[in-house]
Amino acid sequence: MALLEVRNLGISFGGLRAVDSLDMKIDKGQLYGLIGPNGAGKTTVFNLLTGVYHPNEGIIQLDGENMVGKKTVEINKAGIARTFQNIRLFKNMTVRDNVKVGLHNEYSYGLFSGILRLPAYHKVEKQMDERAMDLLEVFGLDGEADNMAANLPYGKQRKLEIARALATGPKLLLLDEPAAGMNPNETDELMKMIQFVREKFDMTILLIEHDMKLVAGICEELTVLNFGTVLAQGKTSEVLNDPKVITAYLGE
Ligand SMILES: Nc1ncnc2c1ncn2[C@@H]1O[C@H](COP(=O)(O)OP(=O)(O)OP(=O)(O)O)[C@@H](O)[C@H]1O
Ligand SMILES: [Mg+2]
Repeated sequence: MALLEVRNLGISFGGLRAVDSLDMKIDKGQLYGLIGPNGAGKTTVFNLLTGVYHPNEGIIQLDGENMVGKKTVEINKAGIARTFQNIRLFKNMTVRDNVKVGLHNEYSYGLFSGILRLPAYHKVEKQMDERAMDLLEVFGLDGEADNMAANLPYGKQRKLEIARALATGPKLLLLDEPAAGMNPNETDELMKMIQFVREKFDMTILLIEHDMKLVAGICEELTVLNFGTVLAQGKTSEVLNDPKVITAYLGE
């Protein structure tokens, strides 16, 4: 069974068909690319998968469980985490605390322990600190743990977003143009990091990019969207050689 199965998914905004008849299956452990030019509907797919928008029609299943109609927070608890195209961090919190926010899916000490700072609170806080540091280390951010998120350079903020999403313990990680605004060296490093995260956490990742060349090297399967519809789909090598893709997309 696929980890994520999407069938006949669609949404319109007024007269605009932003996503139309989308079918997509992602197996556990896959690194899957969702690509397409500006306005193709990529972010809208993420918004549908995470309950920000509710589809006009279609099915979304995670591990066989229906996600349609659920709230964003319920979907996150069910196992879908995301990063945003425009960075959304808690800028006035430390780097460590940004990750700890994500960890609250897994750890809890109850309201009273939290308010009264009972021993249970301190024990859980310590566990969360350790987990947060482990995650920050993966992204080379452990040295920044006590800095304010707002003071991190842009590339590191992007990495922190991924660390925070991972902290929620997802089954499926959605990354919306994580390399946007990065220079070629940073982009290269980030792509390697994404591959590392996939292996270390046995993570399933759906990666949005508009630059096809970027994802071609690391994703084994792709869906190419254009004006909300699927232009091509399947193994990366086949999609890249698809004449429709070459004409409509690579020919830009
Ligand atoms: N809430 C909304 N209301 C109206 N139109 C919307 C809304 N959200 C998205 N759209 C429209 O849907 C289309 C797809 O937008 P979307 O943001 O999904 O594209 P994208 O593929 O992520 O593009 P980009 O590469 O620029 O990020 C666009 O025409 C956009 O203007
Ligand atoms: Mg987008």
